Amino acid sequence: MKRRPLLAGNWKMHTTVEDACHLAAEVAKCSAGLSDRDVLLAPPYTVLTEVAHVLQKSEVLIASQSVCWEEEGAFTGEISPAMVLSAGGTAAIIGHSERRQIFHEDHEIINKRFLGALKFGLIPIFCIGETLEEREMGKTFEILEEQLREGLAGVDIKDMKKTVVAYEPVWAIGTGKTATKEQAQEVHKFIRTLLAKMFEKAIADSVRILYGGSVKPDNVDALMAQPDIDGALVGGAALDAESFCRIINFI
Ligand code: 13P
Repeated sequence: MKRRPLLAGNWKMHTTVEDACHLAAEVAKCSAGLSDRDVLLAPPYTVLTEVAHVLQKSEVLIASQSVCWEEEGAFTGEISPAMVLSAGGTAAIIGHSERRQIFHEDHEIINKRFLGALKFGLIPIFCIGETLEEREMGKTFEILEEQLREGLAGVDIKDMKKTVVAYEPVWAIGTGKTATKEQAQEVHKFIRTLLAKMFEKAIADSVRILYGGSVKPDNVDALMAQPDIDGALVGGAALDAESFCRIINFI
């Protein structure tokens, strides 16, 4: 089954207002006319509105880098789905390994964020991935299965259609060490097979599974040629307009 490719840039904790507007304008320019793929940017919260403004006339989508499960209230430091929507976002990254590792977000919190995003109409981009230690211990599939089962607990089958999954091996993030295309394809296939067991085959076949971890202009084409890799979630290379534009325009 052919799925529509999604190329996403996660800006993490980078960009001032000025940097963000400049970068977004470049992305809008180089993605214009690409009708066979989706392009998405996940800027920091502080620039969501400005980026949305710059992207107004483009097809580029906007995501927040995380999201709370409540509509509003006393949740210092958080952002609600309604706030993301009102700033021009339509999606939210959830369960990024940096949230899991640095900020100790557990399965329960991540699951709440996931369900909250869906409840208020945001598309969740759900990140999973094993550490180097877990891979070396032969636990990759076990860890990914746990992350998927716990993170997606209670998700309605019809909502799964809207969901995007991102496989980001922790050892490949920001390290310059990409998973080989074979390693990535093997895991993506595993994820799809598991989703078919957890939900149903038609859903698993329609869910887009992105690869993330040192995606660069020189490896994107090979990764995107794999049958179960439907897109990329890009960190470092998304901060450089020329590199990200090349990635968006993968062949
Ligand atoms: P890098 O592309 O810098 O490895 O980051 C990947 C990532 O974490 C995207 O969410």
